[in-house]
Amino acid sequence: MRVGIELGKTSSGEPLQMDLEELLSTRLLVQGNSGSGKSHLLRRILEQSAGLVQQAIIDPEGDFGAFAERYGHVVVDAARSAGDLQRIAQRIRKHRASVVLDLEGLDAQDQMLCAASFLNGLFDADRDCWFPMLIAVDEAQLFAPAVGGETSDEARKASLGAMTNLMCRGRKRGLAGIIATQRLAKLAKNVAAEASNFLMGRTFLDIDMARAADLLGMERRQAEAFRDLVSGQFVALGPALSRRPVEVRIAGVETKSRSGRPSLMPLPEADAEDLNDLIFDAGEDIPPMPQPVRKAHAPDVVQRLVTQQPHLLLVDSSEPDTRSETEKQSEVDAIFAEILADPDAAFRPVPLIYQEFVYHCRMRRLEDYGNDMAAFRRRLALARAGLDSGIEDPDWLRVLEASESLPEEMQGVYLLIARAASQGADCPEDGTLARVYGSHSPSRGRWLLTFMAERGYIVCDTDFRGYRTVRIAGVGWRTAPSHPKGALPVRPQRPVRASRLAK
Ligand SMILES: Nc1ncnc2c1ncn2[C@@H]1O[C@H](COP(=O)(O)OP(=O)(O)OP(=O)(O)O)[C@@H](O)[C@H]1O
Ligand SMILES: [Mg+2]
Repeated sequence: MRVGIELGKTSSGEPLQMDLEELLSTRLLVQGNSGSGKSHLLRRILEQSAGLVQQAIIDPEGDFGAFAERYGHVVVDAARSAGDLQRIAQRIRKHRASVVLDLEGLDAQDQMLCAASFLNGLFDADRDCWFPMLIAVDEAQLFAPAVGGETSDEARKASLGAMTNLMCRGRKRGLAGIIATQRLAKLAKNVAAEASNFLMGRTFLDIDMARAADLLGMERRQAEAFRDLVSGQFVALGPALSRRPVEVRIAGVETKSRSGRPSLMPLPEADAEDLNDLIFDAGEDIPPMPQPVRKAHAPDVVQRLVTQQPHLLLVDSSEPDTRSETEKQSEVDAIFAEILADPDAAFRPVPLIYQEFVYHCRMRRLEDYGNDMAAFRRRLALARAGLDSGIEDPDWLRVLEASESLPEEMQGVYLLIARAASQGADCPEDGTLARVYGSHSPSRGRWLLTFMAERGYIVCDTDFRGYRTVRIAGVGWRTAPSHPKGALPVRPQRPVRASRLAK
């Protein structure tokens, strides 16, 4: 009994049947330029034969999700090892399950390796599992390229080997390849040559037309007709289709591919300014603020040592203190300013600066202000970054909170960058970052940025000129692009000859 599926109507209006049993032993090659309707045609064949024969579909674009759901195919995702895929493929043969191998999201090389493992698994199945099966491979030139491309030799060899096995030696094992390609010239010759059925769609390039004519045993002149085909129209030839070349218009399909034909649609009516904002505004792609880590660091010990040293109690405190709170605060500010005015302040360890601060506070009977080490550290970090200690802006408060989970000596650096970013100013150069950290070496500045970027506090991007932009996680701030080594010397302009200026 012949089991046929209808592909569509010929130019004389007759239905064109494809003989499924014949197809199983003679395979099919579809070729046509982009948009000629190859994927639609493969889908038509697969839909019509879904209930009649076991199928495996290699799906590089993730286009067969709806199809799998409709016809009950198992979707095999590619997040698996080569061994896993081979085992799965063998079980598929054993249980005669129809499947879609979804390769979407993998790069070309991984798609090749993945398809190769899967096809080899189907091919290597035990002899008692050699049931007939259609294997559909769209974009076959990806898996059996005529020449090496950018993928590794290993991937190309594996994938080409598996496709050659499928098309040349698969018949005995019940495997029938139905493959489609945009460009015959890009498909490995031995893979194309093993198909005895052809459906040729619209083709423009001479080299592809010549290859098609060779395969079909046509005069090159006759093959010129492939140029005049429209989308969805194919010339069919082969034992499962027709003994003479016949034109067929492929009928409709029931499931949808995700990639439709591009059609014109009205452009949005936003003005240039709005579009600028939409495109360049940092907006939604702000990286999240890192989770604050509460550190149990040693300041308490330092604080105790510094504040409880009796020799620091230099002043007799029996006299009544008549200064107002504001006066005391401004005295504390003055002490702070004096300490930081020392150019070496940045390079001295915090406990030493703190000790000096406590000493001066006690000298002026301001010990209450000198006892809070945490407040001191925060104020020092703010001051080193050139920020006012009375900040109330909610974004700044979040940044300050985040800064506290960084190692202490990095907090000033982070705040310095945040300040530049909040103003859209240049990112401080490596040397400056290193100095705020307490180091003379610019390479330390680069290391600091990497450290903070790896932990999600900032995101660094470097453009093609080597200019760096830093974004602050959690808020939409970014620095202006600037060179890590600071302003580069301006290239001397070539003098313009007076004769040219006159023109
Ligand atoms: N016979 C047909 N009837 C109706 N629509 C069709 C037919 N053939 C193709 N189309 C439509 O034309 C468009 C392009 O078809 P298809 O995606 O199958 O082209 P293709 O040859 O696979 O292109 P590519 O090589 O770029 O993948 C699709 O939107 C498809 O739905
Ligand atoms: Mg396609």
